Amino acid sequence: MCGIIGYTGTAPAVDILMQGLATLEYRGYDSAGVAVVTGNGNPRVRVVKRAGKLSNLREILDGTWLEGRTGVGHTRWATHGEPSDRNSHPHQDSDGDLAVIHNGIFENFAELKSELIADGHEFASDTDTEVIAHLIGRHSDGLARGPEALADAVRAALRRVEGAFAVAVVDRRSPDTIVASRREAPLVLGHLDGASLLSSDVAGLIRYTRDVEALLDDQVAILTPQGITITDLDGNRSEGHRYTVDWDVDVAEKQGYEHFMLKEIHEQPAALRETLLGRTRDGRIALDEQRLDDDDFCHLDKVYVVACGTSFHAGMVAKYALEHWARVPVEVEIASEFRYRDPILTPHTVVVAISQSGETADTLAAAAHARAQRAKVVAISNVVGSSLAREADAVLYTRAGPEIAVASTKAFTTQILALELLALFLAQLRRAMFPEEWQDQLQRMAALPELMEQVFGQESAIRQLAATVAHASYVMFVGRQVGLPIALEGALKLKEISYLHAEGFPAGEMKHGPIALIEQGGPVVALATAGHVRGKIVSNIQEVKARGATVIAIATEGDTEIKAHADHVIYVPEVHELLYPMLTVVPLQLLAYFIATELGCDVDQPRNLAKTVTVE
Ligand code: F6R
Repeated sequence: MCGIIGYTGTAPAVDILMQGLATLEYRGYDSAGVAVVTGNGNPRVRVVKRAGKLSNLREILDGTWLEGRTGVGHTRWATHGEPSDRNSHPHQDSDGDLAVIHNGIFENFAELKSELIADGHEFASDTDTEVIAHLIGRHSDGLARGPEALADAVRAALRRVEGAFAVAVVDRRSPDTIVASRREAPLVLGHLDGASLLSSDVAGLIRYTRDVEALLDDQVAILTPQGITITDLDGNRSEGHRYTVDWDVDVAEKQGYEHFMLKEIHEQPAALRETLLGRTRDGRIALDEQRLDDDDFCHLDKVYVVACGTSFHAGMVAKYALEHWARVPVEVEIASEFRYRDPILTPHTVVVAISQSGETADTLAAAAHARAQRAKVVAISNVVGSSLAREADAVLYTRAGPEIAVASTKAFTTQILALELLALFLAQLRRAMFPEEWQDQLQRMAALPELMEQVFGQESAIRQLAATVAHASYVMFVGRQVGLPIALEGALKLKEISYLHAEGFPAGEMKHGPIALIEQGGPVVALATAGHVRGKIVSNIQEVKARGATVIAIATEGDTEIKAHADHVIYVPEVHELLYPMLTVVPLQLLAYFIATELGCDVDQPRNLAKTVTVE
């Protein structure tokens, strides 16, 4: 939530900040703002900010002279205070000497605010962020000028705050400097000659540099055009996690598609190929990072899978593969529930934490809880060096490339594939499968990208179907076994981007209640691919048809008999039962996309949502 960007160098800062904010807008878009240090002889910090999308800010900036070579920018997803001009970031201290941008929540802000008010401070907004601006301001009074003095004030202020944050500060008394810090919220630094950058994610930096450094919890970075120094909160020199980015800027652009979501749906075959690349080493399936012994996996007695939203649905699919292939008991749980329960965790428990961003607060907290109980954590993430990946005992990267649309698509299918690879990895170590069996599964997986490309052949039929469904008052999705998580995911995709009421149900549960909702002609999407529950789902289709539903079946190519039961059929190629989710979700993603565009919705940036949920 919230995107932050910062630049100090020799180029006009505002251009770079606006470019960065455009890339980061997916993280939050209810207001945006920039602060630039202007004027040479008598520098001052000028703040321009506006409620609404970045285009509103761009409009006022077009008529504003904002010259300066150091600045910070912010795009907001509101947590404290309604989205409005006054609550937009950056926020300033009482004297207007400095400006702060922030992603996250300062949990003890109310207490700090009362203290500051008692001290005579007046506040211009309802945000928690303004409190830190005042606190830094108070600590800077009387200090010498320059980068170190500003860093001292920031460190002193941050020692007082609780919560999760990424912050960046500019100050007129140290005009070529940005001081930044983070705790449980992402912040990446960019190194280049004659300039330094910071951003909430690599996509904001990649246009300028591939030489990046992830700041770690409670580190403070001092950025100047000459370079970046990092300290801990006590001022001792420290280092972040420095690495080279290996993907290109055009991956993060639309490349002719109308929306990022449609582009990312189409990128799935290529993304799956990447996920599979080089997964066997010396006749074994290998993880990307493994700080555990093989024995830890051989002797595990239980797997918990924890995740949120779409990643949770991928986790539901994984349960079937882990239990079937690796013969290990699995529980799948929403991360925000897991962290507040008292699950039975032992050193023989493996917790698989799934997060595309690797920065989701609830998933990070669930993983931290598991580690505190000495369970082993395996991360499935799309972001190299993300907080989750760094904290885990082993990591499998999904390699989907940057996902910009808020609605997750290619991250989901690659998560399923990575999780199924993990299931084969465990099956191999635990000798739950013969080598020829797991090799056979790997071959089936290798065929998936091509088979998925065939599904796109039905895109225009799905678009036409979407036009007929778009004006329904609800859409139901039903599935059984691995079809169930896909029914839930189909419903989630549709509701988040079209705002149409959509629910997913286990097909066998319909007659225990939800069937009462069926209206004449009301659409029901049924996952009815080949497999041992196909006959059961056909019975469930008949039950809803008998009550007037219009049924859209997702079935296996060659299943002509299904046409006798369904009003519309979308076919996917035949694959192993556990691999169907990666194919059957594609028509549902397209259906959601075309319904949303038919209804004129903002597909890539749906209302009330943000891409990375770094608050609880
Ligand atoms: C929905 C969606 C969300 C995310 C969820 C977890 O399309 O994208 O439901 O899946 O917020 O995000 P990550 O995977 O980054 O932890």
